[in-house]
Amino acid sequence: MKCVEPLQPARTLAAARATIEQVSDVTACAAEVARIHNAAYASDAAFRLYSREEMAQVLTETEVWIASEDGQMSGFCLTEPERNSMWIESVAVDPARQGRGLGQLLVYRVLSAHDVSVEHPCWLNVSSRNAPALKIYRRLGFRPQHETCRFSATRGELIAARERRFR
Ligand SMILES: CC(C)(COP(=O)(O)OP(=O)(O)OC[C@H]1O[C@@H](n2cnc3c(N)ncnc32)[C@H](O)[C@@H]1OP(=O)(O)O)[C@@H](O)C(=O)NCCC(=O)NCCS
Repeated sequence: MKCVEPLQPARTLAAARATIEQVSDVTACAAEVARIHNAAYASDAAFRLYSREEMAQVLTETEVWIASEDGQMSGFCLTEPERNSMWIESVAVDPARQGRGLGQLLVYRVLSAHDVSVEHPCWLNVSSRNAPALKIYRRLGFRPQHETCRFSATRGELIAARERRFR
């Protein structure tokens, strides 16, 4: 999906008072980012569990935005700035704090900080099965650009298919 003109979320969202900021000391926040990643993406088809050390390595390669409420990290957004555009690589909210507008606020703040526009669009990839994410991206002004299909099969299914073919 692509956004060229971010649409502002409503000011009345339950998470409106969250603090959202870009962090420079990524090592210090790696454990909390890994915790939220592991909880929020657990049901995702491409889920991979990250340790604090693995996440610290990932964070050194991206720009890191953190949302906090009552002094506790409640969400993060990882972005990759390019020369004439930017990518959102990952956005996740602690499952205990989802559905209160924090995801929208976090992404909107990141888009604003990057001055997203026609000349400097923001891109991201999202699964057509990810209803909450699609909802917030559409609300913020993202529109679909291309669709791709992902096929998957277990090792057992592949072996069974091969046996049927050569029977
Ligand atoms: C996507 C994500 C960041 C959204 O965070 P959030 O703080 O819950 O987002 P918001 O509260 O701003 O909005 C979520 C919307 O989706 C809705 N929603 C939640 N579950 C839903 C479902 N199963 N089907 C449809 N809509 C759903 C919520 O009700 C809300 O809409 P509303 O404001 O009309 O009530 C969060 O769901 C998450 O961390 N998901 C796992 C990680 C992920 O998939 N990230 C995106 C990768 S592209």
